[in-house]
Amino acid sequence: MIEHNNLLNKEAEYLLQTYKRIPIEIERGEGVYLFDKYGKKYLDFFSGLAVNALGYGNEKVIRAIEVQSKKYIHLSNYYISSPQVELAEKLVKYSGLSKVFFTNSGTEAVEASLKLIRKAFGPEKKIITFSEAFHGRTYGALSLSGKEKYKKYFAPLLPNIIQLKFNDIDELEQMADENIAAIYIEFIQGEGGINLASKEFTSTISKLREKFGFAIISDEVQSGIGRTGKAFAYNHFDVVPDIVVAAKAIGGGLPLGAIITGKKYSDIFSAGDHGSTFGGNPVACAAGLAVLNQIFEDGICDEVSKLGDYFLVELKLLQKKFPQIILDVRGVGFMIGVEMVNPCSNLVDRFREKGILVNCTNENILRILPPLISTKENIDFFLKIFYEILSENTI
Ligand SMILES: Cc1ncc(COP(=O)(O)O)c(C=O)c1O
Repeated sequence: MIEHNNLLNKEAEYLLQTYKRIPIEIERGEGVYLFDKYGKKYLDFFSGLAVNALGYGNEKVIRAIEVQSKKYIHLSNYYISSPQVELAEKLVKYSGLSKVFFTNSGTEAVEASLKLIRKAFGPEKKIITFSEAFHGRTYGALSLSGKEKYKKYFAPLLPNIIQLKFNDIDELEQMADENIAAIYIEFIQGEGGINLASKEFTSTISKLREKFGFAIISDEVQSGIGRTGKAFAYNHFDVVPDIVVAAKAIGGGLPLGAIITGKKYSDIFSAGDHGSTFGGNPVACAAGLAVLNQIFEDGICDEVSKLGDYFLVELKLLQKKFPQIILDVRGVGFMIGVEMVNPCSNLVDRFREKGILVNCTNENILRILPPLISTKENIDFFLKIFYEILSENTI
C-alpha cells in the first residue's frame, strides 16, 4: 500500500497530467456513498460522471459479472455472445430503434456513427453540430465538439463540419439544405452546462429532416439510460432520432458504448466495415443487462422522474433566496445544472469538505448527477448542505 501523500506524488510522477485530480483517496463505495481511506463518508452526487447509475455494490450487477466471468470474460466478436445479443434486444426495446453495434466508450460510439454517416451519404456532405456540444475526445468526436478549449491544439480536425448556435432556429433554417448528411445533438447538453434544447428547436430539426433527408443523431452518452426519468433524453421531445449513441451507465461501470440505429440506417454497414476487439465485452454486457433490468423494470426510472421534479423545485426555491449567488437552475430528472454567478470550483471544494461529491462544468455550472437510486433523504441532505454553504457567503 502506498502512503497517501506519496500516492499523490507518484500520481504526478507516473501519470500524464491530463486531469486536475481531487486530492482524496477513495477506498470503497456502498450504495450512494463513497468512503475515503480515513473513513470519511461522501454522498456521491457525481456518480462517476453518470456511469454509476445504481451506485456502488449493486448485488445484481456484481452477480451478473461473477456469473459471466466464470463462463468466459472475453470472446472474439467472430463468435455470438448471448449477453451481447440480450443487451442489444433491450436497447432496441427501450430506444424504439432497430439494431446495435457495441463499442468500449462514448467517443468510440460517436466515431462509429461518423463512419456510418460517411458511408451512407458520401464524402462531400456536411455535418451540423452545436455550440457547447461535447461528443468525446478522439479525432472525429472532437471535430464535432463545440468547445474550442478542447480543440485548440489539435487541428487539423475533420472537414465539412458546421458549428451552429444551440437553440438558434433562424441560423439552423438558413444553414440546413440538401448538402447536410447529419445533425448531431445532445437534447440535454451535459458537459456544455446542462443546456436543454427548446421544443421549437427540436421540432424545427425534425421538419428540416423531412425536407432534406439528413440523419438526426442523438448523443445520449450522458443523458441516456434513465438519467432524465425517461429511457433517453429525446423521449422528452417530439423527435425520434435516426441513430442514438450511448455509453456510461450501460456497462454497469465496465467500459461499454453502443450505437443504436433506426431501420433506415441498420443495413449501411456490412461485414468488415467496422469492428472492435473488445467492443461489446460479454462481462460488460451482462452487467449492463442487470442495470437496464433494474432501471426500467424495477421502477427506478419513474422514481427519478418524480424525485427530479422535487429536486428542481427545491433548488429553484434556493435560487429565490440567493439570487445574488445563483443565476439559474435547470435540468430534467437527475441531470441538473445550477448556474452560479461565480466560477464554481470553490463551491465543489466546500461541498466535498461537508461530505458531498459534485461537479463543476463550463466554469460556473454546478453539475449534479446523482445515482438513480438516490432517495428523497439524500436530496434533502444535499439541499441542507447547499443552504449552509450559501448562507456562509464564502463562495
Ligand atoms: C454527451 C457525451 N458524448 C460523448 C462523450 C464521450 O464519452 P467517453 O468519455 O465514454 O468517450 C461524453 C463523455 O462525457 C458525453 O458526455
